[in-house]
Amino acid sequence: MATENIANLLTESRTFPPPEAFAAQATCGSLEDYQRLYDESINSPETFWGRVAEELHWFRKWDTVLEWDHPHARWFVGGTTNLSYNCLDRHLDGPRADKIAYIWEGEPGDQRTLTYRELHREVCKFANVLKGLGIAKGDRVCIYMPMVPELPIAMLACARIGAAHSVVFGGFSANALVDRITDAEAKAVITADGGWRRGKVVPLKAAVDEALPRTPSVQSVVVLRRTDSAVDMRDGRDHWWHELMADADDTCPAEPLDSEHLLYILYTSGTTGKPKGIVHTTGGYMVGTYLTSKYVFDLKEDDIYWCTADIGWVTGHSYIVYGILANGATGVMYEGAPNHPAPDRLWDMVERHKVTVFYTAPTAIRTFIKWGDEHVTKHDLSTLRLIGTVGEPINPEAWMWYHKLIGKERCPIVDTWWQTETGAIMITPLPGAVTTKPGSATLPFFGVDADIVNEAGESVTPPDGGFLVIRKPWPSMLRTLYGDDERYQQQYWSQVAGCYFTGDGAHSDADGYFWLLGRVDDVMNVSGHRMGTAEVESALVSHDAVAEAAVVGFPHELKGEGIAAFVTLRGDAVGDDELKTVLRSHVAHEIGAIAKPDQIRFTDALPKTRSGKIMRRLLRDIAAGKEEIGDTTTLEDYSVLTKLREED
Ligand code: WTA
Repeated sequence: MATENIANLLTESRTFPPPEAFAAQATCGSLEDYQRLYDESINSPETFWGRVAEELHWFRKWDTVLEWDHPHARWFVGGTTNLSYNCLDRHLDGPRADKIAYIWEGEPGDQRTLTYRELHREVCKFANVLKGLGIAKGDRVCIYMPMVPELPIAMLACARIGAAHSVVFGGFSANALVDRITDAEAKAVITADGGWRRGKVVPLKAAVDEALPRTPSVQSVVVLRRTDSAVDMRDGRDHWWHELMADADDTCPAEPLDSEHLLYILYTSGTTGKPKGIVHTTGGYMVGTYLTSKYVFDLKEDDIYWCTADIGWVTGHSYIVYGILANGATGVMYEGAPNHPAPDRLWDMVERHKVTVFYTAPTAIRTFIKWGDEHVTKHDLSTLRLIGTVGEPINPEAWMWYHKLIGKERCPIVDTWWQTETGAIMITPLPGAVTTKPGSATLPFFGVDADIVNEAGESVTPPDGGFLVIRKPWPSMLRTLYGDDERYQQQYWSQVAGCYFTGDGAHSDADGYFWLLGRVDDVMNVSGHRMGTAEVESALVSHDAVAEAAVVGFPHELKGEGIAAFVTLRGDAVGDDELKTVLRSHVAHEIGAIAKPDQIRFTDALPKTRSGKIMRRLLRDIAAGKEEIGDTTTLEDYSVLTKLREED
């Protein structure tokens, strides 16, 4: 993160107490209530979480709330439940049965609503489709779909029968798909002929076809017809969604599953070239996403809640699907781009669907600012009562714009810090209880024992900065990395003794508020999406022209962080603009468009220490265009520097 932003955060002194009218109706309406519940959740976690879990359905009640065998947690041990049951069946006995679960809008403007009863029926049918394809409890299913209702339907159908899903973001390439399918040994892929994005078709099935010759575990593919574009269907392997659904029985009782049964795998970037398969299990994840949705979004029976994330990321898993449906809320889902057909698409939708709670990313907010206020002000946003952000630190200016233009100085803002690994929101204001400060995610959620430590693992004193760690297990925490428990232990539990290491830097202030400062490892945060520098490097060196590559993040006005690549070439390859274009598309092909470097600089050599380590800090300064370049005394070859600065 840019140092000027850090400096801004350090001097930010504006405070915004919860509006009285909001607090009066809030699920948690005072700081005292928050503090009392928080203290209980830390001092008596078993009592606290046991009581929360009672609000949900269990086929068999747990014997023990938590078994902690460092660093492995088991929550609600001995209990059996089903998350699909809790998201659907649990609501069918009363008035929620005919309440709308999803209001969906396709990019071209087509609309669809599904009540809880209708959603339940579709999920049961698709669960039977999966069974018919030989998918059983414990199997893994890869889902690679656009933002259409069939995506949550497929997820909930997997959860219903105890198959684990691995959702792969539709923006990832065929190669990224191969890695993820292979690692999870997925038996089936659920996809679509395509999805709509800025008026164009994203050819998902074509990417699946490109991937499948390299994924022997896949036995069947289900293809949803969404765009009517032409696709190849392979006999015996590929099936149309609508054909299978036409014959499917709509009765499929939810399977009672052990609380620690594998719910899903979600791949995320780490510090090596290989993405990590984050493992979430059933009971704890259910309880964590349920409770955070209830308190952080202050969900009420008549809310219309909209999270603009893609379900391909954890935000969509927890706060479009599981946590939201477990609360029986009505959610809005949108398929396409925020500026199609015009830059006011989201505000037009807020107005038309009378959205009350709105959750988006700082990168989106910065983009809205750039597009111009007129796209916002021409719409009636008076139904909004609460707005939130996730994915990256929000700069105070963007926070203030969000507060004024979208929240009309009336809606509390919840800046929610969490990770794919944490499963649920960890640091956040409770909107009726906690005074907010622009740029701070404020205080830890119930059960979250957060701290900031130095390299030696000692707590620092405010306002000193350090590493953000979590000292105690929490229900929705990742259980391991799929197929790589060693990496799980090493990555998260070995850096600071006894603590979960988040990989984020933070500092706190005199009120105990947390201010997140960005990643401290070699992971970038590009438009709120995590991207490992090593992943982009290995994509670059897989191109014939490239000998060596070093990738760093640099402050980017809209994306938060941009990607800069320093590349040395092989033999007679010529580093010109054409090659830059070629390399950018090569990276898009290897990983996905989100990984395309914003800057590529060709160089004869990379700056290395005498021991051969690439000097990333130096490269970061160069990419950021900084005049002052830090300590270079260990640099092997000074001439490299001058050349690098000249290149752009
Ligand atoms: C960053 C997204 C500051 C952080 C839910 C974290 C944030 C990474 C915030 C996780 C926030 C997320 N303020 N930084 N409110 N929310 N981050 O796994 O660096 O895609 O480690 O999960 O995003 O990204 P992930």
